Amino acid sequence: MKKLTFLGIETSCDETAAAVIRENDNGTADILSNVVSSQIEEHKKFGGVVPELAARAHIENIEFIIESALSESNVSINEIDGVAATAGPGLIVCLTVGLNIGKSIAAFAQKPFIGVNHLEGHALSPGLDEKINFPYLLLLISGGHTQYLIVKNINEYEQLGTTIDDALGEAFDKTSKMLDLGYPGGPNVEKFAKLGDENFFKLPEPIIHKAGCNLSFAGLKTAVLRESKKIIGDRKLKYNLAASFQKTTINILCKKTRKAVKMFLEKTQVKDFCFVVAGGVAANNSIRENILKLSKELKFKAIFPDIKFCGDNAAMIAWTGIQRFKKNLFNKIDIPAKSRWPLDSKAPYMKGPGLKL
Ligand code: KG4
Ligand code: ZN
Repeated sequence: MKKLTFLGIETSCDETAAAVIRENDNGTADILSNVVSSQIEEHKKFGGVVPELAARAHIENIEFIIESALSESNVSINEIDGVAATAGPGLIVCLTVGLNIGKSIAAFAQKPFIGVNHLEGHALSPGLDEKINFPYLLLLISGGHTQYLIVKNINEYEQLGTTIDDALGEAFDKTSKMLDLGYPGGPNVEKFAKLGDENFFKLPEPIIHKAGCNLSFAGLKTAVLRESKKIIGDRKLKYNLAASFQKTTINILCKKTRKAVKMFLEKTQVKDFCFVVAGGVAANNSIRENILKLSKELKFKAIFPDIKFCGDNAAMIAWTGIQRFKKNLFNKIDIPAKSRWPLDSKAPYMKGPGLKL
């Protein structure tokens, strides 16, 4: 059968990205190009992503990024089999940029168009390098989401648990801001945590003994804020707090993963299974090491996407486009950008007042 080649476009948050991906004989992907332009400099002075600035930067860069991805891949637009662009979830003003240009290219070149769920992109991202059997257990940890899901197939997800407040990446970013460790937050907290004593501060692990594998990080963030106010100017204590925060998040993830594994086994009865940890926070080496340790004890195969596919990228979007194409899951050209788009539409909404755990 013909090997499919897709152009992918990603502009859901603060990375402008385009990639050209081709299926190969191993059931994985040849990365013909993978261009990512980060907006770190634009958002640095504000300590976080400013939607209007992000959208403007996407508009300024997107044509150049797509042209670079195509020319690097040596594939002309006529030779691709389809165009995939992120349609949500994310910032509407940002999503619209990539989505509209993707639709235009598809319409102009008369190619199929697929509007991709960014979360499905993360969920399938390890498949770029490694063939993984369904069903598998997924922990998706990014700047906007923190969820345990059963990946049953392409387009078939069952949510087992989610954060009821902050996403894990958000907690890393806010911790970095409170401790003045720099932007972007996650990688800086990881860097400075190496210089500190992770057992120095005792921090809370919210809802650890209840609500199954649902998670909560707001109380942890507040505790970091409280401690950070007591240690202003003390560099060593600052590193201790970064290290203690990271250690606490790892404790939470390991304890909740035990629950998620139990639920996965009960629901699927599949003993030899893979546990995929994907999304921007999956780049964190301490988290990887601790999940690997847990995998030996609980006897699952832990899989992490290559670091370049953890953070936002268009390779995972093109790859998801290819998988959906093969299942005839196309979109009409009028698919809208969506700020909220859960992978499991039946999952209860777990945020806001009145939530009962
Ligand atoms: O998947 P991603 O690039 O964008 C979203 O879909 O949200 O994830 C970005 C998040 C940010 O919160 C960033 O601080 C976090 O991933 N992150 C990390 C690390 N690298 C990125 N968090 C902890 N440790 C890291 N090494
Ligand atoms: Zn992402």
